[in-house]
Amino acid sequence: MSSVFVTGSADGIGLETARALLRGGHRVVLHARSEARAAQVRTAVPDAAAVVVGDVSELTRIRALALAANALGPYDAVIHNVGVGGGAARREATPDGIERILAINVLAPYLLTALMPPPRRLVYLTSGLEAGGRPDFADPQYTHRPWQGMQAYSDSKMYDVVLAFAVARLWPGTLSNAVDPGWIKTRMGGPNATDELPDGAETQVWLATAPEAEIGFTGRYLKRRQDLKANPAAYDESVQDRLLALCAELTGQELPR
Ligand SMILES: NC(=O)c1ccc[n+]([C@@H]2O[C@H](COP(=O)([O-])OP(=O)(O)OC[C@H]3O[C@@H](n4cnc5c(N)ncnc54)[C@H](OP(=O)(O)O)[C@@H]3O)[C@@H](O)[C@H]2O)c1
Repeated sequence: MSSVFVTGSADGIGLETARALLRGGHRVVLHARSEARAAQVRTAVPDAAAVVVGDVSELTRIRALALAANALGPYDAVIHNVGVGGGAARREATPDGIERILAINVLAPYLLTALMPPPRRLVYLTSGLEAGGRPDFADPQYTHRPWQGMQAYSDSKMYDVVLAFAVARLWPGTLSNAVDPGWIKTRMGGPNATDELPDGAETQVWLATAPEAEIGFTGRYLKRRQDLKANPAAYDESVQDRLLALCAELTGQELPR
């Protein structure tokens, strides 16, 4: 039995991942944005070990979330699933004044990674759209460029792969990989998505819980258990270092080395 923490697990792929883990006999801690959402999740998933609360669009709440999650650990695996899409017509900022997609999709997994004891396995949710992501460290928050929501989403999902690969390089004791779940019928994926919910969760469950003989690898980008070639930027150690520096600057938290 493995102990697994899944972020953004009140709905969609994260909720399905938690349910699949529980069906497999694992211990699962879920995460919801608010007490109200947590109450709904506790009712929907009564077998969960716990549901921790925190809106990850705020840095102080991510810090509190990390503390709460750590108190319920240790974990064999953490699945960084929380995310928002690129549909906003205008650039939005969080209460910390940070562009919202970057904050939720990139800074939240970064800060949680930095504040939690390294588990043996880490999984970061990305998207096929990461291929179109462009690292622009001169304007990572669309402060000067015209707003393009889907480009900001693609950038954020590329940064998730960069983060997974950076952690794989810097933490040799942790198996850190990125997963494209496919186009899945969720609130984010929409009703026209081609793939069903279980398909979007299966690879993360496998990465988190399969025997070490199967999951002995790190720094890979997978879809349906198969290796994919990631955006070239993800393999570039200078891009990895610049992303870590940006995240450290915006969150005030270095990644422990
Ligand atoms: N669906 C797809 O086709 C697809 C494709 C590629 C990649 N992905 C990736 O897969 C992951 C899951 O996507 P999904 O389709 O399952 O999305 P979803 O159905 O919209 O679910 C997202 C989950 O994240 C939570 N969340 C969002 N913002 C939050 C915040 N500020 N604080 C706390 N929780 C927050 C949501 O909570 P609430 O329910 O309370 O809002 C929900 O539980 C994302 O990282 C996404 O980028 C999805």
